[in-house]
Amino acid sequence: MMLPKPRGGFSAEVFVALRSDPSRLVEHEPPEPESQDDAAIVLWALYELGYRGFEDVEERLEWDLSVLRLRGELESAMEARLRRRWTGHRSEGDFAEAFFAFVGDHDGPSLARFVQTEATEEQVLDLLGMRSLYHLKEADPSAWAVPRLETAAKAALVELLYDEYGAGDPNRLHQHLFARGLEALGLRSEYGGYIDEVPAEILEQNNAMALFGLHRRLRGAAMGHLAAFEATSSMPSRRMAAGLQRLGLDATMVAYYTEHVTADAAHEQVAVRAICGALLDQEPALWDEVFFGAFTCLDLEDRVADHLLGRWREPA
Ligand SMILES: [Fe+2]
Ligand SMILES: [Fe+2]
Repeated sequence: MMLPKPRGGFSAEVFVALRSDPSRLVEHEPPEPESQDDAAIVLWALYELGYRGFEDVEERLEWDLSVLRLRGELESAMEARLRRRWTGHRSEGDFAEAFFAFVGDHDGPSLARFVQTEATEEQVLDLLGMRSLYHLKEADPSAWAVPRLETAAKAALVELLYDEYGAGDPNRLHQHLFARGLEALGLRSEYGGYIDEVPAEILEQNNAMALFGLHRRLRGAAMGHLAAFEATSSMPSRRMAAGLQRLGLDATMVAYYTEHVTADAAHEQVAVRAICGALLDQEPALWDEVFFGAFTCLDLEDRVADHLLGRWREPA
């Protein structure tokens, strides 16, 4: 993959520095980001140095101090924004009960329902391209948390990841299933293939997962995010599969979603009870962080849905 297209003066400067000489980031400090888009595409690219990297950026820049400093500034701004949105959650008693109630009470706009009932083929393909930004690295951001967890939570997270990564069979790796689904629909399946087309809301959704995964101090938020993600996947996956079938789209992508109807019904139990439950038994002080992570997962998905539904419903 090559660096994405810049989205303003800030990202343009940073990408030139990443391609040539990162010391430029110190010598000629880049201008302030012009927009959230301009900042988010840079943070996404800096995180990507730790995933698969770019053909036009040297690998050692992942740990370059001027790059890390810039990443730290962008992360602080994003984390502060995410925390401002979080108004807190009063809950006590049994964690799993409180968590399922919290997720169940959330009532956001649903892209899956739209796909099931009224989306056009073009809109569905548009959505799948944008979703590919995450699904082609599905589970990778959660995997960063493995070394940060103790015995019971670690064992449960690895059990869940084992499933996401195909249980030893590359053909069952969820990332790969999604790539095959994209190909079958005539969409691009290469990693990051739709980066230049996604809105800031999708970038932020992906950046938040990397932020939570990469920082040990955010392990509670990372696992709360994962649990909310799994707990809001089974029913929407059923709706997605139904929508794809309604439009007569290729069965390969339908299979990806039907796989998630059953898999995520199990994963939500593992993520909430065995991972987050065990984490909180060990570290009860992380209770609020787990809910902060869960809220962020739901809130960022609402923002993605609001943006896309707004775009699709605009009169032509
Ligand atoms: Fe999955
Ligand atoms: Fe899952």
